[in-house]
Amino acid sequence: MENFVFHNPCRVIFGKGMIGRIGSEIKGLGHHKILLLAGQGSIRKNGVYQQAAKSLRSAGIKWAEVWGVRANPVLSKVEEAVKVAREQKVSAILAIGGGSVIDSAKSAAAGFYLSEIWDAFEGVTEIKRALPLFTILTLSATASEMNQWAVLSKPDEKKKWAIGAEVLIPKVTVIDPSVQISLPWKQTVNGAIDAISHIMENYFVGTDQEVSMGICESLIRTIIEMTDLLQTQPRDYSARANLVWAATMAHNGISAVALKGGDWSAHKIEHGISALHPEIAHGTGLAIVFPAWIKYMERYNRKTFQRWAQVIWSAHSADSAVGKMKTKYSKWGAPVSLTEIGISETEIPAIAENAYRMKPIGVIKKLSLKDIKAILNLAS
Ligand code: NZQ
Ligand code: ZN
Repeated sequence: MENFVFHNPCRVIFGKGMIGRIGSEIKGLGHHKILLLAGQGSIRKNGVYQQAAKSLRSAGIKWAEVWGVRANPVLSKVEEAVKVAREQKVSAILAIGGGSVIDSAKSAAAGFYLSEIWDAFEGVTEIKRALPLFTILTLSATASEMNQWAVLSKPDEKKKWAIGAEVLIPKVTVIDPSVQISLPWKQTVNGAIDAISHIMENYFVGTDQEVSMGICESLIRTIIEMTDLLQTQPRDYSARANLVWAATMAHNGISAVALKGGDWSAHKIEHGISALHPEIAHGTGLAIVFPAWIKYMERYNRKTFQRWAQVIWSAHSADSAVGKMKTKYSKWGAPVSLTEIGISETEIPAIAENAYRMKPIGVIKKLSLKDIKAILNLAS
């Protein structure tokens, strides 16, 4: 097993009714005025905003608000958040939402101390400082609530790129699974597929990392089982809570220990799709890319792909496991081919080139432009 460093300083407060704790947590870390960042308004409809506001008020915390972060979030909203944070002289940011809101909050938290936050995405500037970040999670998918990553789009250059820095890990995250009952089914599925994909990005690199690989297998099985349950019983709290916690564990570092940082080439290919098609959700893109990626990559770490086929899908080959995986995703209502989302083969070169700008791509195998095109062809 490889040497590793594992450190995750995020304090997670989990369970029904826990949103009321956010005010005292923020106050406990010495903050009196914060920026509240939110999306398109779902948190008003499901009462999460009202719970958070009540908690902030009773802890005596003042706040400014920026609304309107959209799915596949963009740079301009982050710039707006930085401007408000500076004008209002806040000392921390509270993100309330899913990955898009949290990633935007992370970008703004770092951007507060930089002249151009996008330089960090280009790798030209290093992120050394950030405003402390607090989150209330409303959609389990990305694990952004407990990790160091943020993904943002710059639409004029058709870039959907990422940053990562330890100072971006939230100080405190509140996860109340019951607030995710208001999610449309499609978002629950996107979240489940994203979480499974995060685990697979790490798992397939593995050879002898028994602890991490065992955790990965358990998480994938749990996510499949809980999503199946929620499809027929969407209000089942236990299923929701298990799905939610598995999704956080899928990308908070614990299941990735000693796995070389994971492969992440399927993710980069997906980001190539949603950079060109911001209307396509990340989880939807992954449902299409990952089965094709497995088919293509299987020959480069055959034993581990074989193990995944047997343990997760009771299948004798990776090929047959991919078939079962696609059947499962389709049963959940996710598309499993580019054609299903209206992307034809003629667009494959443009998507591949967009993804290839993020090179190097892949750890199991460094993918060439030709490899990426071949994977996208398998996905069409
Ligand atoms: O805009 P609001 O009103 O918040 O509505 C959102 C949005 O329309 C809605 N929603 C969230 N919670 C809800 C709810 N609707 C009803 N009830 C609730 N409780 O769901 C929609 C999608 O939200 P979004 O935040 O975009 O979804 P997700 O959490 O899947 O985030 C996706 C973004 O994260 C990036 C993706 O690329 C994408 O940009 N990723 C971030 C990662 C990270 N930071 O580690 C890793 C991932 O691989 C991924 O790349
Ligand atoms: Zn993802």
